Amino acid sequence: MQLPTDLQLAIEKFLAGSKPSQITRSFADLSGKYRAGALGQRCVQTSDDVVAYVATRMPSIYCVVRAICEEVSERLPQFRPRRLLDIGSGPGTALWAAQSVWGGLGSARMLDCNRVFRECGMSLSEYGTAPVFRQLAWETMDLEQPHRGFGDGCDLVTACYVLSELSDASRQRTVLAAWEAASGVLIVVEPGTPKGFETILAARAALIDQGAQILGPCAAGGACPMKGSAIRWCHFSERVERTSWQRRGKGATLAFEDEKYSYVVASRLPARQIAGRIVDVPRTSKFDISINICDSQNQIGSFRVSKRDRERFARFKRLKWGSYVPADQVK
Ligand SMILES: C[S@@+](CC[C@H](N)C(=O)[O-])C[C@H]1O[C@@H](n2cnc3c(N)ncnc32)[C@H](O)[C@@H]1O
Repeated sequence: MQLPTDLQLAIEKFLAGSKPSQITRSFADLSGKYRAGALGQRCVQTSDDVVAYVATRMPSIYCVVRAICEEVSERLPQFRPRRLLDIGSGPGTALWAAQSVWGGLGSARMLDCNRVFRECGMSLSEYGTAPVFRQLAWETMDLEQPHRGFGDGCDLVTACYVLSELSDASRQRTVLAAWEAASGVLIVVEPGTPKGFETILAARAALIDQGAQILGPCAAGGACPMKGSAIRWCHFSERVERTSWQRRGKGATLAFEDEKYSYVVASRLPARQIAGRIVDVPRTSKFDISINICDSQNQIGSFRVSKRDRERFARFKRLKWGSYVPADQVK
C-alpha cells in the first residue's frame, strides 16, 4: 500500500530541511524506547521524536489503519461516517486513513496531550485536499487526568497506538469512554507484538462486557482462543511501500516493510457475518496447503487441502493471512 499524494506532499513539506542523519538518530532512540517500552510509557515527546515519527512510523501506521477502515467498510457497506473522534491523535494518522476510505467525513475532533504532535498534525492537515481538513478541532486532553468522557458522540471513534502509553487505570477508562462516545464504530489498534495483543485483548473483553458487537478481527465475540494456542498472539501484517524518508531514516535497503499490528473493531451496527479468519501465514508444500482459521465458534482449526483436490486447492491458494473465510470454504 502507498500513501495518497496529498499526504505524501504534507510529509515532504513537514520534513523539508530535516537532516536525514538526525532522523536516523532519533529513529534509533525511538525504536529503543518502543522495544524497551513498559506499558504506560510515552515514547514520542520532543520535536526530534515527532520528526522521526512522521518520517518513519506515520506512513506505516497510515497503511495499517487504512487497511482496517477498508475492512470495516466491506463489513458495513451502509456505514458512512460523518464525524470522527481520534483519541491520542498524534499527527492525525487515523484521520488521513479514515478520510481516504470514507471520503464523506465532515468534521473531526483530534485529542492529544502533546503540543508538538498537535502542531505537527495541524501543519500536515493544511495539505489535505478533502473538506474535512478544514473542519478539524485539535483539542488538548491528558487521558491520565480525571475526565467525564469525550463529550459529543461521533459515528467513528479511533484510538490508535495510544492505549499502551497509558497507565492501567486510564487505559480501561479510555476504552469505556471511547465506546460510549462511538455511535457507530470504534477502532482500537496497537503494535502486533505480544504486549500489543495483551492490550487489545483487555480492550476487547471490556467492550464485550459493555455489550459491543465485535466486528474484527474476530468472526464473533466471546472468549478469544489465541492465548494458549500455537499462534499465541493474534496479529496481522500490512505490506507498506517505503517512502524515501522511511528508507533513509531507517537505513533500510528494501523498498517495502511488513508492519505487524493487533486490533479490535467494535460496532453498534448490524454487520455482514463471516465464517472465520485466517490467523497466520498459509503454508504451501509440494503436496498441500494448510491454513489456520479462527472461526465464529471462537475455535482455531487447521485445514489441509491436498493438491489433488484441484478446485479447492486453487480457492485456498488465493487466501492470505488475514483473509476472511466464507462459510462454504471451511467445509
Ligand atoms: C504512538 S503515538 C500514536 C499517534 C497516532 N494515534 C498514530 O497512530 O499515529 C501515541 C499518541 O498518544 C498520545 N498520548 C499518550 N499519552 C497520552 C495521554 N495521557 N493523553 C493524551 N494523549 C496521550 C501521544 O501524545 C501520541 O500522540
